[in-house]
Amino acid sequence: MKALPQKTILVADDEPNLRRVLAGILRRHGHQVVVASDGQQALGAFDQADINTLITDLRMPRLDGMQLLRQVTTDYPDVPVIILTAFGTVDNAVAAVKLGAFDYLEKPFDQDQIKQVVGKALRTNEMRRRQVRLAGDEAAAGGRFGLVGRSAAMQAVYNVIDKVASTPSSVLITGESGTGKELVAQAIHANSPRAAYPLIKVSCAAVPDNLIESELFGHEQGAFAGAVGSKLGRFELADKGTVLLDEIGKIPREMQVKLLRALQEGAFERVGGAHTVDVDVRVMAATHADLGNAVKSGAFREDLYYRLNVVPIDLPPLRERREDIPDLVCHILEKFCRRLGKNAITLSERAQQALMSYDWPGNIRELENVLEWTTLFCSGTVVQPGDLPETFRNAHPEQAPPQTPSPTNLKQIVRAETERVERNAIMAALEETAGNVTHAAKRLAISRKSLQTKMKELGLRNRDPAPKPRNR
Ligand SMILES: Nc1ncnc2c1ncn2[C@@H]1O[C@H](COP(=O)(O)OP(=O)(O)OP(=O)(O)O)[C@@H](O)[C@H]1O
Ligand SMILES: [Mg+2]
Repeated sequence: MKALPQKTILVADDEPNLRRVLAGILRRHGHQVVVASDGQQALGAFDQADINTLITDLRMPRLDGMQLLRQVTTDYPDVPVIILTAFGTVDNAVAAVKLGAFDYLEKPFDQDQIKQVVGKALRTNEMRRRQVRLAGDEAAAGGRFGLVGRSAAMQAVYNVIDKVASTPSSVLITGESGTGKELVAQAIHANSPRAAYPLIKVSCAAVPDNLIESELFGHEQGAFAGAVGSKLGRFELADKGTVLLDEIGKIPREMQVKLLRALQEGAFERVGGAHTVDVDVRVMAATHADLGNAVKSGAFREDLYYRLNVVPIDLPPLRERREDIPDLVCHILEKFCRRLGKNAITLSERAQQALMSYDWPGNIRELENVLEWTTLFCSGTVVQPGDLPETFRNAHPEQAPPQTPSPTNLKQIVRAETERVERNAIMAALEETAGNVTHAAKRLAISRKSLQTKMKELGLRNRDPAPKPRNR
């Protein structure tokens, strides 16, 4: 496994012994540690180092933990804050969590618990940082040419785009629906010497068979019934630019030979026209169909196939490059939030897991649709599995809270937010205690009965609350 880049954790506590013990544990886990003996010093540390997570005591001189928490959540919203709390004073920690703290750790420390909470905080920090990157900054998201994705499969696609963009070669882009074929065609055109001229798209499936010739090559007045005036075809409109023949598999057989001639000679006649029109176009074609099979069955001309397929680009389905999902999610959420004028939202780890374990038959377009729905209906700033469409809740029934209508007024928003915080705290406590309600109640400093009532209210009652029992 590749070593992760070292992360920096700031520990703020006025007890020197505690700082030393905690710093020692964290360093043994491979983290870099910065320490501060009060809140002021802790704030100062943010100017000196790139802090990924803050662990702070509540009672400290100069600036106390709550004030520090407020300051950090405002100034460094990507840094999760973990509160240190003495046994029996969990109430304060819960109050801090309601104010935006990420989680709390109880003294005396349990090594496993530190590892788990800190690990979660660092992953959250990484996710929040990804989220604040500018949309379109695809380089930061590991992508190129306006495409997002850093998987090996996408790197291979970028390499081909790199090599082929500046040439006049035909490109055949294949891939399932929604994998980005059109986006790739745009990228090639935009990075070609033809970028200043048009990229003209023709959807071969959308044009009736009897009109496709005139659509591509134009027609003269009176060429056929309804041809009142003459009209330029797509090839002429694209002169010096690029034509994208989308869904090329749908082009009628009798048109294929005319298309082949246009590709080979750069010349054609308008429908009903006598003289030959010369154009300078680069042709790209796209299809989700298996053209090779169509050639075998005789539905597609072999010579045309080879003429189009000079440079093939086959886009991988999303389920074969799941590692690109987090980057795509960030990119798409940013886009929708900006469009809807909403504050940035992020995905909880579980929600991200739910998206990553789905098969995405509609690929990135389907992901976009799911995230658009989520952006519209999510009430908080962190998307939980319950905020996702039904399919994803069913995939993770144990994590699915009941569906609540989108809140519209302040009271409802506060209520929804409180419920979310409560639900998270309860889920975390149950997870920590492998689903033991008595122990979880103790952890949350409430009675067993209150916890059961709360769980019922929040719809957590008859589910398996502990998806992954802790390894001890
Ligand atoms: N790598 C990517 N990065 C960011 N957005 C992407 C990427 N690939 C696809 N998209 C987005 O997903 C949507 C679908 O992409 P596109 O229309 O290019 O797919 P397609 O393969 O042409 O689909 P179809 O076969 O249905 O025509 C678009 O909104 C596009 O912007
Ligand atoms: Mg398309």
